[in-house]
Formats: sequence, C-alpha cells, structure tokens
Amino acid sequence: MQLELRSMLFVPADSERKLAKSLSSSADVLILDLEDAVAASRKIYARQTAAEFISAHANGLATRLFVRVNPFDSGLTMGDLAAVVVPGLAGIMLPKPNSAADLVRLGHCLDALEARAGLKPGDVAIVPVATETAQAMLNMASFALLTPLPRLAGVTWGAEDLSTAIGAMSNREEDGSYSPLYDLASSMCLCAAAAAGVPAIDTVQVDFRDAAGLQAACRISRRRGFRGRMAIHPDQVAIINDAYSPSTAELAHAQRIVDAFAAQPDAGTLNIDGAMVDRPHLTQALRTLAQRA
Ligand code: COA
Ligand code: MG
Repeated sequence: MQLELRSMLFVPADSERKLAKSLSSSADVLILDLEDAVAASRKIYARQTAAEFISAHANGLATRLFVRVNPFDSGLTMGDLAAVVVPGLAGIMLPKPNSAADLVRLGHCLDALEARAGLKPGDVAIVPVATETAQAMLNMASFALLTPLPRLAGVTWGAEDLSTAIGAMSNREEDGSYSPLYDLASSMCLCAAAAAGVPAIDTVQVDFRDAAGLQAACRISRRRGFRGRMAIHPDQVAIINDAYSPSTAELAHAQRIVDAFAAQPDAGTLNIDGAMVDRPHLTQALRTLAQRA
C-alpha cells in the first residue's frame, strides 16, 4: 500500500494533553500508542480514547492516524483491534511480531474488523516493528517469502525491546554507537522492506532535545535507504520531514537524468558531467522525483 510515512509521531493514547497537542503536528502519521508508552492500569482507557480520537478527528486532519496495538503475546491485541478499527483508522503498527506470519495473522483479523466497521477490504494498512524479538531477527527471511500482502505499507525496526529480549545491559557500545546486533537489525529492516516492496522507516531517537544529533542520524539513514523515521516528540517532526525530503539540487539532478534518457531512449548508459549514468540511476532518479512534496 502506498502511504506517505516520512514522519510518524508516537502519541501515548492515554494522554489527553499530548493527543490535543498532536492535532497541530505536521507529521505524516500520528501513531496513537497503546503499547509501551501506556501503563498496564491505563490500557483499556487508552484504547477507548484512541477510538474516540480517530472518530472525532480523522476527517479533518491531513495527518493519517495509526494505532500501535499491544503485541500478540500480551492477551490485549484482539481487544485493542476490536476497539480501534473504526472509520478513519489508516493503519495498525504491530510491535514484536516473531516473523512475517504474524502480519498475515493480523491481516485476517483486519479483514473481519473492516467488514464490521463498513470499511473497504484492505483500507487499514500494516507497519510492523520487525526486529524486536530474537525470533524475529532469526526469521527476517520470512519477509522475502511473504505472499504479497497489499496492506503492508512499510517496515520499521526497534532497538530497545530487542536488547531487553537479548538480556543486554545496553544496545550501545561505550562510545555511544549501536552494538553490532542493532546495526544488523537496522540493515535487516532495509532488506525486509525492499524484499516486500515497501519503504523502510527508521527507528526513534530517544534523546529528543538533541536536534543536531537527529539531523546527522537522519542524513546517514536516508543515504542508507530509509525513507522516513519515527518520532517521540513533536519537535523532531520538522527535522525529520526536512531530512527525508529530496533537496532542490537532488531533484534537479534527478530531472536531468530522466530528461537525458528520454532524449536518448535507446541509450543504456550516458555521460552526465563526466560521470557514467545507467539504468539503475534512472530508477533512482524516478524514485527521487516521486518523493517531491
Ligand atoms: N505527542 C504529542 N505531544 C507531545 C509529545 C508527543 N509524543 N511529547 C511531548 N508532547 C507535548 C507535551 O505534552 C508538552 O505539551 P504542553 O506544552 O501542552 O504541556 C509539549 O509537547 C512539550 O513537551 P516537553 O515538555 O518537551 O516533553 P515532556 O516532558 O512533556 O514529554 C516525553 C517527554 C518523552 C515523555 C514525551 O515526549 C512522550 O511521551 N513521547 C512519546 C513516548 C512514546 O510514545 N513512546 C513509545 C514509542 S518509543
Ligand atoms: Mg517497544
């Protein structure tokens, strides 16, 4: 499914204050969170608040509304889904799947709930947090074997729960960089997304006051192939929107490549400013132009 997922802002669904604040966000997606940001005692309240928020605001917002439900082993997932699949819901973020089979399972649940809500089949997208369990890491190849799942809209990853699952003291080395397992998780997210034909969305940066650090992380991430990033604080959204949008110079260069191939449709390879450009560059250029705001 094609959805703009450049910036996805988490909003704890039990916080009226943050829900109110999120209405003025320019995030492409708000993820109303029922999972880690919500205490056990507030889970039921949060799912009701999320459903009411979607019903009240989905129509008037340019931003799309997702809900992160609780994972399948929590015993809460079905109740979460039953509450929040209402008209206006754009997607479900699934935490802690153990393989792509869990996405197929979620898809079956959504088939039924969409029918009940009067939604069109496939209206509700799925974005998994694909790397949060050890099983998931060992099963990442399942994304390559996935029968096409049209409601899959993107794949993202997480480092926090994976380090808890592993029993690590931290997911960082002493110098602050990610430990190898989390670099692998990030790379696996890129491969899983590409294999499934959807964009890869980068994970959250928790130190939300570090704007320069976020900018630098976004630049690296976009070069590596990520097409957007999740945010935990409203101040991160503008930085993310800017960082994952093509610059004027990139758009101009991409247009030159497209024009050059259009002018010489039989050429396999061309010279642009003394650099060789061939068909993969054309594919990349078309992708860049498609990201134009
Ligand atoms: N969504 C909407 N509004 C948010 C927000 C968010 N994710 N994070 C902060 N705000 C609001 C605050 O309520 C505050 O609004 P106010 O001026 O009306 O009081 C304003 O933005 C400024 O917030 P600030 O004081 O800088 O931060 P904080 O201490 O209130 O909150 C966190 C910090 C980390 C607790 C908060 O950003 C948060 O809850 N983030 C989401 C966490 C989450 O969902 N985690 C799960 C995914 S990993
Ligand atoms: Mg988590």
